[in-house]
Amino acid sequence: MVDSIYRTRSLGIGLSGIPDQYADGKAARVWQHYIGGHKKRTESYKEFFCNLLNENGIKHILDVACGTGVDSIMLLENNFKMTSTDASDKMLKQAWKIRWQRRKEEAFDDWVIEEGNWLALQEANIEVPSQGFDAVICLGNSFAHLPDFHGDLSNQKLAIQNFKDMLKPGGVLFIDHRNYDAILDSGKAPQRNLYYNSDCIESIKTSVLYVDGKESMITLDYTVDPSKASDDFTEEGEEPGAKRRKSSSEGDISKFRLSYCPLRLGIFTDLLKGVFGEDARHEVFGDFEPLGKVELPAYYVHMVWKPTNENGLEEN
Ligand SMILES: C[S@@+](CC[C@H](N)C(=O)[O-])C[C@H]1O[C@@H](n2cnc3c(N)ncnc32)[C@H](O)[C@@H]1O
Repeated sequence: MVDSIYRTRSLGIGLSGIPDQYADGKAARVWQHYIGGHKKRTESYKEFFCNLLNENGIKHILDVACGTGVDSIMLLENNFKMTSTDASDKMLKQAWKIRWQRRKEEAFDDWVIEEGNWLALQEANIEVPSQGFDAVICLGNSFAHLPDFHGDLSNQKLAIQNFKDMLKPGGVLFIDHRNYDAILDSGKAPQRNLYYNSDCIESIKTSVLYVDGKESMITLDYTVDPSKASDDFTEEGEEPGAKRRKSSSEGDISKFRLSYCPLRLGIFTDLLKGVFGEDARHEVFGDFEPLGKVELPAYYVHMVWKPTNENGLEEN
């Protein structure tokens, strides 16, 4: 019982430094089934998000949690220039596969994909534009994977500082997290939501770990059955003509565990303000809608601007 609460990832993944919770490849293999396919996943927020980026003059974007590439691909298809990083080579492998298959499209041929850990982002093998990127995105409830081992959010502060350093003055960070206020208050994460809405999700079990009365970690145990995919499901990166397995057997069902640092909205906002400055412009959306429009959003998406001085340069 204790093991099922304290173990932060699937069995068999070694612990060293910041753990790659995707290292056994289990989640990576079924990720597109979990999110319902790349295209279906982005349908609900593509237009709103692309408009927001265009309104802010954003062209070159760094996706620091690209995973299998879902948001990066959607943005490439909508004429943004993408540089994409992630700490997990198992997840990146899927993104590389798609890049290779679509390499004849100019945007995909120019797509830069590299390994990069948020805590040492400057070491990622990417070319940073001289002024910095127009935007950095960290979406899909990725940031919450960063554990707060020291109990003082020092990892979180360092990662956000590294994101800020990648931005040009006036550039924007888009970063999201699940509605942990609702999850902590109810003890349960919603099974389907804006990002993850597929027929293949069998169940998601929520555990909340308190240390000295403080909400410290949430683990979600996922059961995903790819054989439940609807007939219109298409997996990007499949070889043309490849037949998707439809038969249901125990072997198809994937169980994996991921853990999260559950930061409430107020704490997350303070974290961003602590790094970007109290006066930094900051907006929050609920499920990519203006706050208040969705009654109980599953996700909060923060948009925070790197301050500039009156000459448009970085503030000291
Ligand atoms: C929940 S997945 C989301 C992936 C993608 N954004 C999506 O929405 O499908 C979280 C991703 O964050 C990455 N990640 C977690 N911790 C990281 C870290 N410290 N540095 C870089 N990437 C990290 C994981 O490898 C994983 O691919």
